[in-house]
Amino acid sequence: MTTTATDFIHRFVPGTTAGAAPLLLLHGTGGDETDLLPLGQMIAPGAALLSPRGKVLEHGMPRFFRRLAEGVFDHEDVVRRAHELADFVAAAGERHGLGKPVAVGFSNGANIAAAMLQLRPDALAGAVLIRAMVPLPVAPASDLAGKPVLILSGAMDPIIPEANAAELARQLSAAGAAVTHEVLPAGHQLTQCDITLARDFLAGR
Ligand code: MLT
Repeated sequence: MTTTATDFIHRFVPGTTAGAAPLLLLHGTGGDETDLLPLGQMIAPGAALLSPRGKVLEHGMPRFFRRLAEGVFDHEDVVRRAHELADFVAAAGERHGLGKPVAVGFSNGANIAAAMLQLRPDALAGAVLIRAMVPLPVAPASDLAGKPVLILSGAMDPIIPEANAAELARQLSAAGAAVTHEVLPAGHQLTQCDITLARDFLAGR
């Protein structure tokens, strides 16, 4: 297989349900391209799944951008990686004949999805952001008119202050996205409630 600078190690599962939006699955720190495939199949049965592996390694753990400490991001790298991922998504979409995907990101994957929404709004049809936080110090001017976004936060999340997730919801709403923000009785980990809410959100799009 030939790879290009914008390519990512990834898994692609073709869709079997006509009309189902493809999902772009973005794993958390230390995950890989296989991590969220079962989640994708649960929340959007029959949808095409595109699942890249983050290219940044932190002590051997794949991520989608560099950070200086937990919750402290290398913002230049966030911008560069968000564009690189958006280019990959566009190229993979052409290669596989896909429509624009809905990003489904967990933790670090949700943060790069939020950055993509803000920097490359045309790359995505919408997003499910599970345990996301504000990715950039200043929200870039972006037109997210009508894009559906579900943010799922944990009230007991030790990594993401509630106010930070609320600020992300505010920024995306201010850019025109149709944001639903749910704060669950959960920590940072994925729960059954996240799965149910994500599935209902995708079914209702
Ligand atoms: C991040 O680095 O994106 C956030 O701190 C979440 C994480 O991956 O731990």
